[in-house]
Amino acid sequence: MGSFYVLLGPPGAGKGTQAEIIAEKCAIPHISSGNIFRENLQNETELGKKAKKFMDAGELVPDEITINMVKDRLSQPDCKDGALLDGFPRTPAQAEALSEFLEENGHKIEAVPLIYVPSEELISRLSGRWTCKEKGHVYHMKYKPPKNEKICDIDGSELYQREDDKKETVAQRIKVYEDQTAPLISFYREKGNLVRIDGTKAIEGVTEALFRVINCK
Ligand code: AP5
Ligand code: MG
Repeated sequence: MGSFYVLLGPPGAGKGTQAEIIAEKCAIPHISSGNIFRENLQNETELGKKAKKFMDAGELVPDEITINMVKDRLSQPDCKDGALLDGFPRTPAQAEALSEFLEENGHKIEAVPLIYVPSEELISRLSGRWTCKEKGHVYHMKYKPPKNEKICDIDGSELYQREDDKKETVAQRIKVYEDQTAPLISFYREKGNLVRIDGTKAIEGVTEALFRVINCK
């Protein structure tokens, strides 16, 4: 049976940042639906073309496309013992589909850490974010600067500012989170999986709190 964790939280809460650290320490796959979409966008695949207009507008990509994409990824052999999900599920339909998929494959969700950060802080985090082109590694010009300006410490690729990190798009993404994703908080609370994590601390403090919930195998 595999152990799956879902990182829940608004845009800019630090899901990607924390998932990178935990995935490396625990040697488990980090599955970010946003990163998979961005890879497809860069490679100009059919999936990328379909997702682009939703992403640029700060809207969610339709469930049918997203659910199939993530199920395909979770069906890869490297996920047989578990994975850390970041940015999926994001709607009640995605959450139901994930539960069904995991159950069918004899897996379960161990915990759903909710990284909580108030909206004002999210905006300043996203406006200072730089992302690596190759693998989506995340930096912040003030809170997590790269060693060399605009170059990824890990793979040496160029850093860029995400198209959807513009102020107006960020506001829309936060609204979409409140409307469509926040209902998952009660969904997972009722299942007994939800653990609230204070995401306003420094990156290391948040990691520490997450490791009280996430156990490396
Ligand atoms: P996605 O890529 O998932 O974006 P998101 O959920 O909006 O989340 P972010 O990546 O913006 O934030 P994060 O929580 O990962 O924060 P990060 O660690 O980078 O989705 C993008 C789009 O793809 C969606 O809008 C949608 O169109 C589509 N999509 C994706 N999944 C989908 C789904 N399931 N269904 C439908 N559509 C989907 O941190 C932010 C910044 O803060 C960084 O600069 C970081 O260095 C800094 N930082 C992090 N932690 C701290 C800290 N503790 N203190 C100070 N700074 C910090
Ligand atoms: Mg992210």
